[in-house]
Amino acid sequence: MSLDTSEVPPPRKRVQGGKATSEVVLSAHAGGNAELFRQILELHVPPGALVADVTFGQGVFWRQVPEGRYRVLRSDLATGTDCRALPYANASLDAVVLDPPYMEGLLREKVETRGGQGSHAGLRGWYAAGGDGEAPGGGRWHQAVLDLYLQAGQEARRVLRDHGLLLVKCQDEVSANRQELTHVQIVVGLEAMGFYARDLFVLVRSNRPAVARLKRQVHARKNHSYFLVFQKVPASQKVARYRTRDLPPATG
Ligand SMILES: C[S@@+](CC[C@H](N)C(=O)[O-])C[C@H]1O[C@@H](n2cnc3c(N)ncnc32)[C@H](O)[C@@H]1O
Repeated sequence: MSLDTSEVPPPRKRVQGGKATSEVVLSAHAGGNAELFRQILELHVPPGALVADVTFGQGVFWRQVPEGRYRVLRSDLATGTDCRALPYANASLDAVVLDPPYMEGLLREKVETRGGQGSHAGLRGWYAAGGDGEAPGGGRWHQAVLDLYLQAGQEARRVLRDHGLLLVKCQDEVSANRQELTHVQIVVGLEAMGFYARDLFVLVRSNRPAVARLKRQVHARKNHSYFLVFQKVPASQKVARYRTRDLPPATG
């Protein structure tokens, strides 16, 4: 029996979409926060999104983001809002930006051994005063840094809607002669909480850091930091099986 092939459609040709370009957002960047932050938002956060920057500081991150591209809610401990107790309803935000102090040296009680002043004073005051957020073990200051990130992450999970994005800035540190890979600790901690680590960016300082009073170098001097992009996995789904997905348009 011969087949009548006149009604068999010809096999479809696979059409390759897209275009060849080197104009892509890269995972490593030399320069400043503002330029990289703008690129990260362009890649991951859809225009019109409702974004809370909960450690707004001087607003440096937003300096290159076009005005009006997002609906931005600004807050900071310095203006009375703790990122661990946000004034937003459950599941009400598309994205949260978190950039708290990342160095234990900024939290020390003694002025003569303390790191930079200014923007970190709020957190230092909180821990030095033995606030509710005091680190377990009292003197383990790196744990205090990590606790703040993870407690703020828990609060971000509450206010984010499903598939919402959490953008975290952090830097590793050597504390009490111990290498603390903060970015790894944050990824592990937030994954356990129901966040999927969707992307990671390395920011390299363009100037060389100067070292006062170097006796013997033990660890590499850090001249890089990280932006981590997390996505809130719905409670009904497993982080290990979650796939990157676009933030669905908000309803209502
Ligand atoms: C590294 S600065 C943030 C810089 C900011 N991303 C910018 O672009 O200017 C850290 C900020 O975290 C704030 N901060 C410290 N502890 C906080 C807390 N528990 N809740 C909210 N903000 C906090 C400090 O007041 C400071 O403004």
